[in-house]
Amino acid sequence: MIVGIPKEIYPRERRVAATPETVAKLIKLGLDVIVQPGAGDNAGYDDGTYVTAGARIAPSAAVLFGSADLVLKVRPPEPAEADALKPGAVLVGFVWPAQNKPLLERLAARKATVLAMDAVPRITRAQRMDALSAMANIAGYRAVLEAANHFDRFLPGQITAAGRAKPAQVLVLGAGVAGLAAIAAARGLGAVVKAFDTRAAVREQVESLGASFVEFDFKEEGEGQGGYAKEMSAAYLAAEQALIAGHAAQSDLVISTALIPGKPAPQLLTADAIKAMRRGSVIVDMAAEQGGNCPLTERDQVVEKFGVTLIGYTDLPSHMARQASDLYAMTVYNLVELLMPKDKGFVLDLDDEVQRGALILKDGALMWPPPARPKPPAPASTTPAAQPTKGTSTAASAPSQPTKKKGIGSRIALAGVVALLAAAGLAGPPELLQHLTVFLLACVVGWHVIWNVAPALHTPLMSVTNAISGIILVGGMVVLSSGTGSGESGFTADALSAIAILLASINVAGGFLVTQRMLRMFRK
Ligand code: NAI
Repeated sequence: MIVGIPKEIYPRERRVAATPETVAKLIKLGLDVIVQPGAGDNAGYDDGTYVTAGARIAPSAAVLFGSADLVLKVRPPEPAEADALKPGAVLVGFVWPAQNKPLLERLAARKATVLAMDAVPRITRAQRMDALSAMANIAGYRAVLEAANHFDRFLPGQITAAGRAKPAQVLVLGAGVAGLAAIAAARGLGAVVKAFDTRAAVREQVESLGASFVEFDFKEEGEGQGGYAKEMSAAYLAAEQALIAGHAAQSDLVISTALIPGKPAPQLLTADAIKAMRRGSVIVDMAAEQGGNCPLTERDQVVEKFGVTLIGYTDLPSHMARQASDLYAMTVYNLVELLMPKDKGFVLDLDDEVQRGALILKDGALMWPPPARPKPPAPASTTPAAQPTKGTSTAASAPSQPTKKKGIGSRIALAGVVALLAAAGLAGPPELLQHLTVFLLACVVGWHVIWNVAPALHTPLMSVTNAISGIILVGGMVVLSSGTGSGESGFTADALSAIAILLASINVAGGFLVTQRMLRMFRK
């Protein structure tokens, strides 16, 4: 299979969809890679670096498009590129299907199979293919540098012999991936940062980066489907504009990143808000491609309005083309690798959530948007409503069977526990019954606590279990040192204490090791 890497022709686009590093990886997958002359020039990779990695240089774009079975791109193809595609070829790149209907028709006419990097579902398993986040991270960082470049003061506060400079005040609107990257960059440069987002869930992330979250007392849920923002009511937007105008007037730099998937960007910074800002302030409107968060933004231009510089770049990742290409190319490679199961060649698995999500056209047939996935079944509940009721259909009662099985299992377990307690009460010393009851209750409480903790918190939970193990360790040592070692029951108690000490020591030592590792991850 021939993979083609064309040179991007969209104005000001400097990225490339494959780097020498990913070309070598593609070749390892058994693919034959051809590169258009100069494809990587703007990203710092000349043709020689691709040849060294094992690629061939195609004589021209026409030859490349005409012979490649798989084309890897950054921007959606221009009409001429789409028309030049080999019939039945596969295309991987940003496509933005909702905004590019005529392009889809063109590609469908070529019987193309199209996978959009912008449609890869943003689920944990697909993070290494998340080109949107990779690019938003770069854009957020770069936006702060662009703003700083147009700002004629220091960002960090300084005390010098010649006088004192206050730190710059930065306001970030929208705290998604780009907004969080902007906060981190501005904080890194020593500015004081505030941020606002309609999704209350991001407050913690904003604060963990050292910024403060702008308070807004307007009760309206800002989170829509899939954790993304939803369009807010007109009343909310008006109140938000007033809130932002107040904060913008006290800010030196504003980085606005607010977007709503599939909708024009919300207008957050009105002309009046800009008039009220300090002269020399800078706004980077990262939503410029979707209409902008400010009506005065001019796409791809730097303009000055009422003494405020307004930057409307839509190509921020291209301002760091090499880094952006490295990360983008890796996300593309990861998707291609997913499409090429070992020894099976290129195979599309429509049952795979990531592949199905990214698939826009299959042999020319429209596959987008993908069908909604059924929600994972709710955890089996013991509430009466979840029990099968008389007269429900077979289909309706079928999913409840595991619950039934689980019910029988727990009843058997309960019967076993009761039998154990009864036997201990009848045959053992009185303390045994007491200890067993405490032990079994601890098991039940522990089980419920651990099962209700989110998997992400399992590692910190280790520290808690460490402390519990410490208690066991002390208990075991107390029993051993209390001199109960005479007679058969004394021997059993000593043996059990010794085992408890051994297991608890392993757990304590292991817990400390894991905690140390975890802490190391957060150290710079
Ligand atoms: P985005 O670029 O679509 O939007 C940027 C931000 O603007 C969002 O945080 C949004 O809430 C905010 N916004 C929208 N309207 C606003 C308004 N009127 N005022 C203020 N802020 C407004 O978002 P992005 O960065 O692409 O991702 C958003 C979310 O997607 C993430 O925070 C996360 O929940 C999810 N995500 C999940 C990933 C995963 O792997 N599971 C990866 C990346 C994102």
